[in-house]
Amino acid sequence: MKSDREHASTAVIGLQWGDEGKGKLVDVLGRDHDAVVRYNGGANAGHSIVIGGERFAVHLIPVGVFLPGVLAVIGNGVVIDPETLVRELEGLEARGIDTSGLRISSRAHIVMPYHKLEDAAREERAGADGKAIGTTRRGIGPAYADKAQRRGAIRVIDLLDAQRLRERVEEACRIKSAMFPGGGEELDPKMLIARLGPIIERLRAHVCDTTYLLHDLLAQGRRLLFEGANATLLDVDHGTYPYVTASNASALGIPAGTGVPMSHVSTIIGVAKAYSTRVGAGAMPTEQVNALGDRIRERGREYGTTTGRPRRVGWIDLVALRYAAMINGITHLGVTLLDVLEGLDELHLCVGYRTGGGVTNRFLPDGRELARVEAVYETMPGFFGDISGARQMSDLPKEARNYLTRIEEFVGVPIGLVSVGPDRSQIVDAAGILGARAVNSG
Ligand code: IMP
Repeated sequence: MKSDREHASTAVIGLQWGDEGKGKLVDVLGRDHDAVVRYNGGANAGHSIVIGGERFAVHLIPVGVFLPGVLAVIGNGVVIDPETLVRELEGLEARGIDTSGLRISSRAHIVMPYHKLEDAAREERAGADGKAIGTTRRGIGPAYADKAQRRGAIRVIDLLDAQRLRERVEEACRIKSAMFPGGGEELDPKMLIARLGPIIERLRAHVCDTTYLLHDLLAQGRRLLFEGANATLLDVDHGTYPYVTASNASALGIPAGTGVPMSHVSTIIGVAKAYSTRVGAGAMPTEQVNALGDRIRERGREYGTTTGRPRRVGWIDLVALRYAAMINGITHLGVTLLDVLEGLDELHLCVGYRTGGGVTNRFLPDGRELARVEAVYETMPGFFGDISGARQMSDLPKEARNYLTRIEEFVGVPIGLVSVGPDRSQIVDAAGILGARAVNSG
């Protein structure tokens, strides 16, 4: 029965523009699951977690790799940069992390060196017209574009057969060379295949048909945890297009990116910071380009895990959050980085957008229109004092609780978890979501 908590799967999805602290929640929740599964994006994502005071960052490998006995599965919907993957694997192994639970979908597509060149070239060209997206330049968009083009795309399964790989790489280089003359070694099939050789041998044992793997686990009554990368407002269909990533980063990407229908997922935790951040270009109605923004950026260490870029910072945008909650069908909110707002006299919450036609509380599909709106705020008293030791809602100052209550009221979804510090133990389990293994892990 899907309603049986022990046999139901979970998803952790970012509701804003990424970097919501999903990694920590996946790490905490993952120990009550049997596999942590990524379904979208690639090395553009960056999940950082702190274990015993030590900070770890992963871009491609699911956070499940840190959990003993839990499989870390890269689903078919992910685009894999194999060089980055091997670097990440070796980096973790050098720090004593057991990576034997990594499984890689044979259907996933490969990010090739020329995809990164293409990403950078497109950004440079668009930048000259002031239209750069501000991508991570990890080749994500071009790899997904080739997947949709079909000719010239390379999948993990192609890596495993030397003859097929040669044919695929030669075909890809023919197509790309016509578009990017003078591409150099990035478009030389021999060089590309030589670079891939040792990498393939390193990854081969981890590759399998993850679709059957996941369904076999479900048939045995095991629980899966789907780890969203990037976030809902960067979703290629539902985000602030064209300033988005190239995949379905919302929960809507789960079935296509793993082969598992959503009917297996009974708990969908939408993760939002207690404020907003964004990396790269695009509308952000609550952005604060001022001393307040700087203060939050410093306190929240708001610099990109993947690119090191300073993040844009602003007040919480409840209009955007309610939209994102709706798209994902979330069952619980997970609010992170609440501690960062400590010590501010007032907290502002965006509850509407003033447009030429009046105030609306609906998110807007037109990014240009969204960039022109004026945020309409409610103001609440701030909270003071260290909250990092809070483990129950009642441990939080009244003003912090009121702030959270207003968020859940507006969004219309209960708060399940509140993160009050970087360590996995610094969490308030408001709705009893965490199972015994998660609670006792420290
Ligand atoms: P791409 O995914 O590299 O193509 O970048 C497209 C946009 O999404 C850029 O604005 C990136 O900064 C943003 N982006 C992609 N992944 C993440 C993420 O994991 N966190 C935050 N921003 C991201």
